[in-house]
Amino acid sequence: MATAPTSPQPTKFIVDLTIGKALKVLFWGVLIYFGLQFFIRTAVPYFTIAEDAYGPFWPRWGWLLTHITGGTFALFMGPFQFWSGFRRRYLRIHRWTGRLYLGGVLLGSSTAFYIVFFTPFGFAYGVGLFTMGVAWITTSVMAFIAIQNRQIAAHKEWMIRSYVVTFGFVTFRLLGDLPFISDLPLIERFPMQAWACWAIPLFVTEVIFQWKHIRRTSV
Ligand code: HEM
Repeated sequence: MATAPTSPQPTKFIVDLTIGKALKVLFWGVLIYFGLQFFIRTAVPYFTIAEDAYGPFWPRWGWLLTHITGGTFALFMGPFQFWSGFRRRYLRIHRWTGRLYLGGVLLGSSTAFYIVFFTPFGFAYGVGLFTMGVAWITTSVMAFIAIQNRQIAAHKEWMIRSYVVTFGFVTFRLLGDLPFISDLPLIERFPMQAWACWAIPLFVTEVIFQWKHIRRTSV
């Protein structure tokens, strides 16, 4: 007697899809939470233009405020760019928020290049942040050039790299809150954080991308 073929595949597919979506929402929820926490705790105090709020940055308060404004734009425009439902439905808005994101990066990085020359936290720290600025502008411009050339997959990858660097300043603070790091003297911990906050996440991102490419092209 022939038995009707039973296939559990559709249910498994739906379960995988639901778990995948839930993980994505959780991931972005955590990221936005830490982004907001950074903005409220670290960035907002600088919107009160007073010597007390700026400390050593007071002589260049205008530069820092412009930097923070650009950085904030990039930080909060980023998640919209990765939201595929929003992108599919509102492509025109996606293009505009993308331009705002790039504008934020250009403003944030150009001002960072100036501020970093006056940092009171030493050469190794300064070089770490200067290089971070170079990585920020490079990854973002690469994402822009890729989309100008209609290279969607490359655009997505470069946008992810760019946002990993954008989030670097939040990561910097999170690293500093870790118990075994917060105990280190400032002169050791700041240079380490200035490099680790973006170079390590960027490296991990690259490994994930290349792993996917290898898996896709293997026969
Ligand atoms: C991703 C590339 C970024 C670079 C290279 C960069 C660079 C810098 C530099 C050089 C300073 C001065 C620090 C010092 O001399 O000690 C600074 C300060 C600051 N930046 Fe950025 N920044 C970046 C992203 C961001 C973003 C996305 C935000 C978000 C709002 C941000 C907010 C701030 C704030 C609030 C300060 C004041 C110092 C503090 O209290 O931590 N930055 N940044």
